[in-house]
Amino acid sequence: MEKRRILVVGSSNTDMVIQVQKFPVPGETILGGKFFMNPGGKGANQAVAASRLGGLVTFIGKIGDDIFGKQAVQLLEDEGINVDFVGADREQPSGVAMITVDASGENSIVVAPGSNSTLLPADFDRSGEEINGCDIVLMQLEIPIKTVEYIAKKVTALDKKVILNPAPAARLSDDLLKALSIITPNETEAELLTGIKVRDEASTRQAALKLKGKGVDIVIITLGKNGAFVLADDFTGQIPAPVVNAVDTTAAGDTFNGALAVGLSEGNTIQDAVQFACNAASISVMRLGAQSSIPSRNEL
Ligand code: RIB
Repeated sequence: MEKRRILVVGSSNTDMVIQVQKFPVPGETILGGKFFMNPGGKGANQAVAASRLGGLVTFIGKIGDDIFGKQAVQLLEDEGINVDFVGADREQPSGVAMITVDASGENSIVVAPGSNSTLLPADFDRSGEEINGCDIVLMQLEIPIKTVEYIAKKVTALDKKVILNPAPAARLSDDLLKALSIITPNETEAELLTGIKVRDEASTRQAALKLKGKGVDIVIITLGKNGAFVLADDFTGQIPAPVVNAVDTTAAGDTFNGALAVGLSEGNTIQDAVQFACNAASISVMRLGAQSSIPSRNEL
């Protein structure tokens, strides 16, 4: 099987995680449980997921001139990811995320983007020939939106597939939507993008149709434990996720997106690629942390 190369452009963070029984309310101090640090960031997580699941991956990101950033890049390299085009910023610290995870496995995340916010179109252009060697470009929204827009338009013109995971939730321009091959919002993100509250099959379909009407080729709305809804020219319907016992949903979406890119890079149908992604994400929620929870191909 000839695999196509995946280029992930996005954030890298160091996650500081505390487990809690329940989230504090504003003004409240609570005693939590276990603390741990873990490599994270939606971009880096998706690159790790794609690599562990069998993809050929290059990551483009921006770290700060500090130990967190250096460690994060070393770990990506250890995963077999090409990190030749990860830049460093002298002014901003590397990205950090403060995460609490409650007893039901839900999380609450605050990100200080730091150097991720200095990843600019010129950083992407520096990767030169590498862009031509990639067939699928995967991005998220923890880097400047102008960079995402620039890359989407540029690589679409080169006839490559652009997958955008619109997380964290943000409004997107019609121009950007038109340049996307695939968009993968969760229910909250789909609501922000369409104004339609995603709560049942009819409203999910309606939201997907609205996004497709803006020019996105394939819309995939992820539905947590209920799998994902797909709207494509050759397939429309809901793909189920295996039933599992969730302990931490952090990076489930990232695992889904990395796996989706791998499924497509191996030439699978959209239906099979989304099933592969649902299966991978369901394993990640059974374990704590971001990159620490992402499964390998053998586990699937
Ligand atoms: O999607 C999970 C990720 O969101 C965490 O790893 C955290 O760093 C934030 O980027």
